[in-house]
Amino acid sequence: MFRTHKKYRIFVTRRIPKEGIDLLQKHFRVTVSAHDRPLTARELDIQASRADALLTLLTDGVDGAFLRRHKHLRVIANYAVGFDNIDVEVATKLGIIILNTPGVLHEAVAEHALTLLCALSRRIVEADRFVRAGKYHGWSPNLLLGTDFFDATLGVVGLGAIGTSLAQRACQGLGMKILYTDVHPHRLFEKHYNAHYVHLDTLLKHSDFVSVHVPLLPSTHHLFGAREFRLMKKTAYFINTSRGAVVDEKALVKALKAGSISGAALDVFEHEPILASGLTKLENVILTPHIASATRSARVAMAELVASGMVLAFSGRRPRNVVNPEVWQRYHRR
Ligand code: GLV
Ligand code: GLV
Repeated sequence: MFRTHKKYRIFVTRRIPKEGIDLLQKHFRVTVSAHDRPLTARELDIQASRADALLTLLTDGVDGAFLRRHKHLRVIANYAVGFDNIDVEVATKLGIIILNTPGVLHEAVAEHALTLLCALSRRIVEADRFVRAGKYHGWSPNLLLGTDFFDATLGVVGLGAIGTSLAQRACQGLGMKILYTDVHPHRLFEKHYNAHYVHLDTLLKHSDFVSVHVPLLPSTHHLFGAREFRLMKKTAYFINTSRGAVVDEKALVKALKAGSISGAALDVFEHEPILASGLTKLENVILTPHIASATRSARVAMAELVASGMVLAFSGRRPRNVVNPEVWQRYHRR
């Protein structure tokens, strides 16, 4: 492999799998945060002022003001596929290259969404709590009845890499019918998976499970509110493994309490790690702590991808995971 000069200083805001750190250390002077917790804004500022590039997490707030204070940064590599924690527009104006981790965690996230779907429909978490509480007194005809997923309809909101992986598994593995919304229809996908492209309202009215796979953007903020939950079937389940702020969490709690939907499984929250009031009291909700991409292999692949992207960027070769290619083209006209 070509070599970069070890003159660049990289600050890593929290320990990530060793595979990524090892690769960075071959090429750069690397400092990894000494704390196994998110850094305060001040701590991040101090470190950023001494670095040429940052490796950040989705818990690091990289807003416009931060970027303007640290114009000298060449690259910010975000250890996540989502980059709503970074003001990409300002970074682009300042000529800072932003990297993320596409293409390596979509299977893991889709599998987590699928796991939540199965656990919701067969009330697995509730059943486990029931047994542990000593309430199990023998087989009973009406005990903890669930919902079939075979032949049920899954509504996939956002057919990117993650939504596509989930739809494939749900169709081929579980025999589900697929409705989806996206910016554009995907005709080849429809043919292979007997899926139908519909308006969001239609999807909500006809789906037995709704799973969300959109990025957080101004246009998707609170995409799900009181109106959307009212449109869903009373028997339907809602699954979110994307970003918490795509959902008006208060409206979701109300809908669950009122029985306007049957249940929900959430891996992400509007104000992580704080939960909307009342959420943990609800039996028909499964809560996981933002772990959808948390398989060993996905996290190692993410670490390798951010690190190798950083190496390529500093040696003048375009990494495939550049979020703002305009910056790249400005420097390297090819
Ligand atoms: C996780 O939420 C990610 O964006 O990678
Ligand atoms: C997700 O991992 C993607 O490739 O979009």
